[in-house]
Amino acid sequence: MHTQVGIIGGGPSGLCLARLLSLAGIESVILERHDRAHVEARIRAGILEQGMIELMRRARVGDRMDREGLLHDGIVLTFDGRVERVDLAGLTGGKQVMVYGQTELTRDLYDAVLSDANITVVFEARDVQPEGFLEGRPALEFGKDGQQHRLVCDWIAGCDGYHGASRAAVPRDRITEFERVYPFGWLGLLAETPPVHDELIYSNHERGFALCSMRSHTRSRYYVQVGLDEKLEDWPDDRFWDEIRRRLPERFAAKMVTGPAIEKSIAPLRSFVAEPLRFGKLFLVGDAGHIVPPTGAKGLNLAASDMYYLSTALIAFYQQGRSDLLDRYSETALRRIWAAVRFSWWFTSISHRFGGDAIERRIQLAEFDYLMGSTAGRTTIAENYVGLAFDASFR
Ligand code: FAD
Ligand code: DHB
Repeated sequence: MHTQVGIIGGGPSGLCLARLLSLAGIESVILERHDRAHVEARIRAGILEQGMIELMRRARVGDRMDREGLLHDGIVLTFDGRVERVDLAGLTGGKQVMVYGQTELTRDLYDAVLSDANITVVFEARDVQPEGFLEGRPALEFGKDGQQHRLVCDWIAGCDGYHGASRAAVPRDRITEFERVYPFGWLGLLAETPPVHDELIYSNHERGFALCSMRSHTRSRYYVQVGLDEKLEDWPDDRFWDEIRRRLPERFAAKMVTGPAIEKSIAPLRSFVAEPLRFGKLFLVGDAGHIVPPTGAKGLNLAASDMYYLSTALIAFYQQGRSDLLDRYSETALRRIWAAVRFSWWFTSISHRFGGDAIERRIQLAEFDYLMGSTAGRTTIAENYVGLAFDASFR
């Protein structure tokens, strides 16, 4: 079995990369550990930046997103009851973000990928093992239905998330990993209730961080900061609703509509970057190469620039015989990654309780006061939140 690009992982990165390549006539095989229903059911990201929106359109999977996605011009920040709106569009020359769930985006991608003649998806691929990528003979060994298979490819794209097989296959002396694990997690709840407000609310409260997000006009997604030792079973729906209301200014708490949880989960918070992102003929893309805490809604949006750079580089290789862009992939992708890692870390650090001494909170409040009183401060938040541009010289 041979293909041009062997892709490990059928999440957003693997699927969108395969589509971008296919539209340029490049064949790929995606090896996904789970089945489609499992991948689509994972409730994760909810906010798309312009870069991800444009990539979906470029991959010709943007029609439903453009019909159903909700464009937002601003976000609300609240600190100890003080409420401030950051005018994202006004401060960035009209840039917006879009509410469109990762579940929907993944479904749109699968619909396109599974009817694309240039793409083969192998679901429930077991024990995927990338081989020979440092020696110029890349191949993927995997099991399927009790049989062992070998897929020889020109290139391997590791799109298999933080716990995947691609980064794990890199010899330890070739890779440097930077990591910070935060001393808390986010408890998230999805409910079929109208959102408490028509824009997202990020709240720094004495009791901890809270976020009010949404998936549509009738579906809400809420999060509260919790300790790492918290268990889901200790959080019946009523306790969650009580807690998030306590962390919001009265004007929002009073109109919160509650209802049974459709989904509830706890996610740890982590900053992580692997360097480099290329190892011979293996590239790391998306969560396989980097993780950010969710505070800035950057995780999926950061995968977008990786997909863009790698697809551009592979297309230049196959269509023009150029390898210069492949050589620049890691360095170019990492520049935007570190910028988002910095923003996500910073936004987390000013909005969460770290359990430090009393001075920590006073400093957070002073910083918020400064930022909100300064056009430069507000613009810094807005520019980073709507997403930094892709490198236009990468072509
Ligand atoms: P993934 O979505 O992780 O996809 C990787 C795929 O590879 C999966 O389908 C997996 O099954 C498959 N795979 C893994 N290992 C193997 C293997 N060995 N062999 C074959 N296949 C394999 N971002 C936000 O912006 N906002 C959020 O609210 C948010 N919440 C999140 C909550 C959680 C619990 C997590 C884990 C992430 C969250 N993120 C969020 C981040 C965002 O969802 C990710 O950045 C995004 O999913 C990255 O896409 P990906 O395709 O790179 O990786
Ligand atoms: C969502 C998640 C985030 O991390 C964020 O910053 C904004 C929205 C969400 O799941 O809707």
